[in-house]
Amino acid sequence: MHSRRSFLRQIATSAAAGIAAAPMVNQILHAQANGLRYRAAAKNMFYGAATTEDRLRTDTAYRQAVADECGILTAEYEMKWDRLRPTASTYNYVDSDYIVNFARQNGMLVHGHTLCWHQALPSWFSATVNRNNAEQFLTDHIKNVVGRYKGQMHSWDVVNEVIQPSDGTPNKLRNSPWYQYLGENYIEIAFRAAAAADPSALLVYNEYGVEFDDSARRDAILSLLQRLKTKRVPIHALGIQAHMRSADNQKFNANTNSFRQFLNDVAALGLKIIVTEFDCDDRSLPSNAQQRDDGVAKTYGDYCSVVMNNAAVIGFITWGVSDKYTNLNTSAARTDNQAQRPLPLDSAMQRKSAWYSLEWWFTNTNARPITITGVQESPLVKAFECMPNPASSHTVLQFHLESTAHLRLSIVDVLGHEIEIVADEIFTEGTHNLTVQTAHFANGIYWCVMLSANIKATALLVVQR
Ligand code: GLA
Repeated sequence: MHSRRSFLRQIATSAAAGIAAAPMVNQILHAQANGLRYRAAAKNMFYGAATTEDRLRTDTAYRQAVADECGILTAEYEMKWDRLRPTASTYNYVDSDYIVNFARQNGMLVHGHTLCWHQALPSWFSATVNRNNAEQFLTDHIKNVVGRYKGQMHSWDVVNEVIQPSDGTPNKLRNSPWYQYLGENYIEIAFRAAAAADPSALLVYNEYGVEFDDSARRDAILSLLQRLKTKRVPIHALGIQAHMRSADNQKFNANTNSFRQFLNDVAALGLKIIVTEFDCDDRSLPSNAQQRDDGVAKTYGDYCSVVMNNAAVIGFITWGVSDKYTNLNTSAARTDNQAQRPLPLDSAMQRKSAWYSLEWWFTNTNARPITITGVQESPLVKAFECMPNPASSHTVLQFHLESTAHLRLSIVDVLGHEIEIVADEIFTEGTHNLTVQTAHFANGIYWCVMLSANIKATALLVVQR
């Protein structure tokens, strides 16, 4: 049984250990309160971006833009095997620690990427890992990496890009090294190892190519998800990469019904959905910057018109936040020698049409009712939320209990510190509304944590004045 005190102590301790380990100077930034992170959080959603540690270290304007806009960060490279594993027996966390510490100090969540993928494998991998030791390598890696950040991660991409119908395997799984060594089982092994190493992280299967009418792909993804759910594998969300191309606008719009249906089918399995890597390759658009920005914003808007209307979609992450840093300039260079403009901010950190499109969608989408990070939803507690998230001096914590329970309710900050106990008493069956004074909280992201012998749940509390 999980002890509530040990849970809080453990997240506080790991947070403190992380800070001590990192060489951080002047990293706490004062974010503008009107960034996308706050627009999203007001709807119990998150917005954020992939970043690299070197950009955060060296580019002051960029670092401030990330602090202004992002409520969650993904490491673009730093948590991939080739960066974490210099040798088969060692781990190097210097760069990934930097990102996790930066996020924590600036009130952001972290989305881990990625524990098991066929790319970005270290050079020693193919000569070292084989059928006999693959399971050990996979579970050791996950135990070590997920364990290092235990209690500090919002979510992990546990497996990335595992379906590939053209590979011709029985269940349309990608014929990756992991598949060759362990068969389909590797997916289950990876999720179970991640859940064991950090029971509070949301565990994600991340995939691409679900937007268009490729039913072989979508059906294979859905039936994999079904198989995992049937086996009670701890999987909580589908990540949709969403690397879009302006050239595909028409095709996207011709397929929205089937994409909507796909999202509904995923949600019907009890899974959340996160857009994990959105960007828009603008090669089909003219050189003129404004025309391009408007065309790119149309791709954002069309995409949001589908995904934001599905309540299972809890977050939207872009693959970068500023056009100054996008891998599309190498992977999809324009022929007119202009730089790509795929992201919400331009290279001078100014907001573009795509930013305003996201702002509009976060403002106009319905608030997600509950954000429970990681924990198994307890059948005993329903509708656990802080409503509204406060622009004023207080919020009301609402929840419904299916039976009487002794609950401890407390507020925990992003450093994992319990900063206030709201209640520690017996609550009867039924609906409860507790007023929580927030006037003394700084702007930022907090959780209200509910603990009892058999309940552990968190509700997001965003203070934004
Ligand atoms: C995939 C991967 C990411 C990144 C992008 C590049 O989507 O998941 O880590 O490499 O490709 O666009």
